[in-house]
Amino acid sequence: MATILDGKKAAEAIRSQLRDEISRLGKKPGLAAIIVGSNPASKMYVDIKERTCRETGILSERYSLPEATTESGLTELIKSLNSKKTIHAILVQLPLPKHISEHRILSAIEASKDVDGFTSHSKSQLLAGNESSVPCTPKGIIRLLELYKIPIEGKNAVIIGRSEIVGKPTALMLLNRNATVTICHSKTANLREHTLKADIIVAAAGKPGLVTAEMVRQGSAVIDVGTTKVNGRLIGDVDYEKAREKAGWITPVPGGVGPMTVAMLLENTLQCYKNIEGEK
Ligand code: GUN
Repeated sequence: MATILDGKKAAEAIRSQLRDEISRLGKKPGLAAIIVGSNPASKMYVDIKERTCRETGILSERYSLPEATTESGLTELIKSLNSKKTIHAILVQLPLPKHISEHRILSAIEASKDVDGFTSHSKSQLLAGNESSVPCTPKGIIRLLELYKIPIEGKNAVIIGRSEIVGKPTALMLLNRNATVTICHSKTANLREHTLKADIIVAAAGKPGLVTAEMVRQGSAVIDVGTTKVNGRLIGDVDYEKAREKAGWITPVPGGVGPMTVAMLLENTLQCYKNIEGEK
């Protein structure tokens, strides 16, 4: 039976440490969260991010813009936040409406305020092995693996999903730690063939029930990033009840990767503050 990777508990400990550290700073770190349109999932995520910011002593400002916002209007807002002294970190909640280029918008964020690690600058840094600004979910996954002392170097890691937010950066972070990394996706011919060789599986496809117990190698670490709402409940990509009998470690949904993502957002906000204000 697998050890449960308790992201909720780990995130609480991280938040408590951050709260102490932030209370001793000269000023309050400030995060601006921009949300365009009325996607309910996006609103829920930003609500959670803002609430945890406030609980941790981070000043949080929300900018809610209508669906019809133009790309130039959004760019102007980002430019004004780039030069706003009380704001140290800028988050643009994705996805953006179809008529706005995510790439151009994210590139408008000043590198020092890139709390999500989504700018071209941060992406190229990660590609070169520099992890000073990395996306929150991959960072949270790696932190969980490290906290539970799960070996990475020399291990086979299989990532399911190739998104810019989770799949690709997680693959790079595991590669930076000397794992042998395979990225699988919707066109992968025989997923099970790959997962059965995996010491670490990261399921980030957003497809409930995709990873069955038959696909899990005995004793492996199974990280479930899936968060699909089914009848009001959050469901992961892994058949948790059966897979936990084979896995060595497994994350629950909810209470696994999700809380770690938010904790890493707070940590990244503090890092942006330190870089800008020059405090250690
Ligand atoms: N949309 C889905 N996940 C994320 C995330 O981690 N950050 C932002 N900004 N948008 C997202």
